[in-house]
Amino acid sequence: MRALALLLAAVSVHSVAGHATRRRDSHNDLYKRAIARRNIVLDGSIADSYDYVIVGGGTAGLVLAARLSEDSNTTVLVLEAGDTGEAVQDQIDIPSFAYYNSLIGTSYDWNYETVPQPNASNRELSWPRGKVLGGSSAVNGMYLVRPSEVEVDAWASMVENGSIWSWDNLYDAMKKSETYTPPVTTVDDVAHIEYQNSSHGFSGPLHASYPGYMMPQVGNWTSTFNNVGVMTSTDPDGGDGWGAFVATSAINPSNWTRSYSRNAYIDPLPPRSNLAILPNATVTRLVFTNSTGGNLTATSVEYASYRGAATQSVSVSKEVILAAGAIGSPQILMLSGVGPADVLQAAGVTVQKELPGVGQHLQDHIYAEVTWKTNEQTAATIYYANYSDDTPTVSTPFLSFINSATAYVNLSTLVAEPDTYASEIADAVNTNAASLVPSQYSEVVEGYKAIYNITAQKLLTSSVGQMEILLSLTGAGQYDQQVVSVQAALQHPFSQGRLYINSSDAFDYPIINPQYLSHNADLVLLRQGLKFCRTIGNTSPLSAAMGEEVSPGSSVNTDEEWEEWLAQNIYTEYHPSCSCAMLPESQGGVVDAQLKVYGLNNVRVADSSVFPFEFSAHLQAPTYGLAEQAASLIKGTYVNADAPSSSSSSSSTSTASSSTGSSSSTSKKNGAVSALRQPSWAASLGVATLVVLSALAL
Ligand SMILES: Cc1cc2nc3c(=O)[nH]c(=O)nc-3n(C[C@H](O)[C@H](O)[C@H](O)COP(=O)(O)OP(=O)(O)OC[C@H]3O[C@@H](n4cnc5c(N)ncnc54)[C@H](O)[C@@H]3O)c2cc1C
Ligand SMILES: *[C@@H]1O[C@H](CO)[C@@H](O)[C@H](O)[C@H]1NC(C)=O
Ligand SMILES: *[C@@H]1O[C@H](CO)[C@@H](O)[C@H](O)[C@H]1NC(C)=O
Ligand SMILES: *[C@@H]1O[C@H](CO)[C@@H](O)[C@H](O)[C@H]1NC(C)=O
Ligand SMILES: *[C@@H]1O[C@H](CO)[C@@H](O)[C@H](O)[C@H]1NC(C)=O
Ligand SMILES: *[C@@H]1O[C@H](CO)[C@@H](O)[C@H](O)[C@H]1NC(C)=O
Ligand SMILES: *[C@@H]1O[C@H](CO)[C@@H](O)[C@H](O)[C@H]1NC(C)=O
Ligand SMILES: *[C@@H]1O[C@H](CO)[C@@H](O)[C@H](O)[C@H]1NC(C)=O
Ligand SMILES: *[C@@H]1O[C@H](CO)[C@@H](O)[C@H](O)[C@H]1NC(C)=O
Ligand SMILES: *[C@@H]1O[C@H](CO)[C@@H](O)[C@H](O)[C@H]1NC(C)=O
Ligand SMILES: *[C@@H]1O[C@H](CO)[C@@H](O)[C@H](O)[C@H]1NC(C)=O
Ligand SMILES: *[C@@H]1O[C@H](CO)[C@@H](O)[C@H](O)[C@H]1NC(C)=O
Ligand SMILES: *[C@@H]1O[C@H](CO)[C@@H](O)[C@H](O)[C@H]1NC(C)=O
Repeated sequence: MRALALLLAAVSVHSVAGHATRRRDSHNDLYKRAIARRNIVLDGSIADSYDYVIVGGGTAGLVLAARLSEDSNTTVLVLEAGDTGEAVQDQIDIPSFAYYNSLIGTSYDWNYETVPQPNASNRELSWPRGKVLGGSSAVNGMYLVRPSEVEVDAWASMVENGSIWSWDNLYDAMKKSETYTPPVTTVDDVAHIEYQNSSHGFSGPLHASYPGYMMPQVGNWTSTFNNVGVMTSTDPDGGDGWGAFVATSAINPSNWTRSYSRNAYIDPLPPRSNLAILPNATVTRLVFTNSTGGNLTATSVEYASYRGAATQSVSVSKEVILAAGAIGSPQILMLSGVGPADVLQAAGVTVQKELPGVGQHLQDHIYAEVTWKTNEQTAATIYYANYSDDTPTVSTPFLSFINSATAYVNLSTLVAEPDTYASEIADAVNTNAASLVPSQYSEVVEGYKAIYNITAQKLLTSSVGQMEILLSLTGAGQYDQQVVSVQAALQHPFSQGRLYINSSDAFDYPIINPQYLSHNADLVLLRQGLKFCRTIGNTSPLSAAMGEEVSPGSSVNTDEEWEEWLAQNIYTEYHPSCSCAMLPESQGGVVDAQLKVYGLNNVRVADSSVFPFEFSAHLQAPTYGLAEQAASLIKGTYVNADAPSSSSSSSSTSTASSSTGSSSSTSKKNGAVSALRQPSWAASLGVATLVVLSALAL
């Protein structure tokens, strides 16, 4: 039953289902609040045409909606497949419910599954994704962790004019998205959290902070790493994101609730007659006309409210922006005739633009964990002891406790001879490209090599973490709450997979094949990461909390035993990405540096599908940054901190590809953020909190 021990206790909710259901009935109004519902269309009535149609009202989509509609002369429509989420608002708002009462597995989750994974015991692994306004930011674990400068600059180096996406620019965009609040004293006294104000923003929509309650084990986290030679990071969000630290979380410290794209970017807005957000609208395809020169122009977007419902259509006068996420965006392109010709033909979709890279290069973070019994209280034991059916006695701050003790460790922490190891992997690029790419298209093979090369040559040997190590104090369900786990998640996979449609019906799910552990290096490194987890659990001071190791336990010791065990025990860390990769078209790219889909005049993709490789970080912080920068790009107001002049005209792309791997101290800039056109979020928040449209009785 250890197999149920997901990072977010996602599936293990089954073991407490009876408990959770009874309690939900009596306490579903735990937090009484007024729901702002401005700009959200509940009766389906929208205009015939909009300047911008945003497909997907998730993490990135709602950032774009808020920013693009700042111009009152521009009309913006968001089409979101999921519902508003208001019927389950407590489950979204209360941070610890991500573990104990989550929306994973409900109708607010797409509930995708992979095809059987041959290198993971042929298991079909579940791939949750938020299907609700806010998308995955409404259901995720709230870790708000940034990639490192080296990685972001490596991404920017992969495409022409890529310096739009340099660290300096993405850093400013991530700061623009947030309002950071340091930990409260009671929490800091326990956890001793290190941070730098200079790495943060203080006037953005998203709240970045920490839980209001802290478990004592977290206070022993960084010193345990120090005792095995891994340093504490004093500034994890400033571009050097390695070492051990207590991560920032997307939590609003004014009332200890989740901060996510809807309540950050949309609810505080004043009514905007130029913005409409339509829930229950599944986009089925984009409709194109040929324009002179051969590129296609999207003229309308079709959508339906449920399988079998009549298709409706809305015209677009400027652009379509796909923000349907790492599964939805490539799926919609393929349904619209943009993708690999073999896939489209087999699915019965007319090819409009042959683009072999759509859905390819699919990557994800996978993890497994080592678990010990403990005699100490865990967050789970406190929750289940206190949160009884009729008389919940847990405090609001306690209900915001989520896991956040984090470390990113590099190659030399994991393997004995890092340089030899790295060069062996680098040398094997052609062999692996010949056997491990799940596509016949030479462009996709070239893209595999480009991603592989940058990973092997720039990331593997740098200081950047190869393995994320997390402390879990939230148990694995009621049957074994009194456990502590240390998790290892592989950050830069060499395995790449793909997703593709096998039906022209948008309500049929795409086939998802991440090819987990198809590259041997992933197996080796994750095995080493798990051994390191065991070392951490057996190192003082954390070891004082640990009793018997219950999983995998004393029978798993040799490399072969670890590898056999982990094939049966890896799960997704919920970070699928790269399925509409920003790469040259000749490398199976889908979008260019402007996020424009090759061959289409007015369609961009702006969500977590465009990163060309996985970062050593969770994905939401870079996704918020990407969406902020995309909005600035589309509005023609973005400032390129890397460009020689600080011109902010609409054609402000720079020509030079950015330098990579520069030392962090040389290029941190703080000036550009103030040069970005910055609306007064503080002012609009102030107004908005006074205007409450409707109180929702749950
Ligand atoms: C369970 C879970 C835990 C996670 N934990 C963390 C974490 O702790 N920290 C972190 O940083 N990241 C975490 N992540 C990852 C992170 O949340 C995502 O990578 C990120 O939110 C993705 O943003 P996005 O805008 O690309 O997609 P999403 O936020 O998923 O938005 C896509 C939206 O498009 C909609 N959509 C899809 N298809 C269609 C269609 N055909 N028509 C209309 N709408 C459509 C979807 O319903 C959704 O609302 C987690 C993810 C999950 C699922
Ligand atoms: C939390 O506070 C925000 C303001 O910062 C408010 O908009 C929101 O409704 C509050 N949430 C709850 C559940 O009370
Ligand atoms: C969306 O659809 C669900 C299921 O049919 C329904 O319960 C809900 O009221 C709808 N929401 C909106 C905003 O139309
Ligand atoms: C609004 O857009 C119209 C049409 O594009 C243009 O004529 C007008 O000048 C714009 N107004 C403002 C205030 O930008
Ligand atoms: C790169 O920028 C230059 C200068 O603005 C421009 O001429 C060129 O078309 C751009 N290339 C791409 C692929 O966007
Ligand atoms: C960050 O800023 C806050 C508010 O000004 C201040 O209280 C705090 O001490 C600062 N922290 C650091 C590490 O500089
Ligand atoms: C943390 O470490 C201290 C020793 O440094 C120890 O006394 C304490 O029990 C530990 N607490 C937990 C919860 O591990
Ligand atoms: C565009 O033109 C091509 C080539 O003539 C044709 O195959 C395709 O069907 C056209 N697409 C549209 C949307 O008209
Ligand atoms: C758990 O409940 C007890 C009373 O039963 C209370 O004293 C304690 O503070 C609660 N713990 C938390 C973390 O809320
Ligand atoms: C990857 O690196 C290898 C070896 O250095 C080289 O032969 C190949 O051309 C590179 N491929 C790409 C796509 O950069
Ligand atoms: C890798 O991490 C170890 C431990 O923190 C550190 O001593 C070493 O310098 C790091 N290596 C690189 C290349 O940064
Ligand atoms: C993955 O599974 C296939 C099929 O069983 C096998 O041929 C291959 O060697 C495995 N790869 C790794 C890295 O274990
Ligand atoms: C068509 O799009 C490609 C990029 O996808 C661009 O290079 C080309 O200039 C475009 N052609 C026209 C006529 O706009």
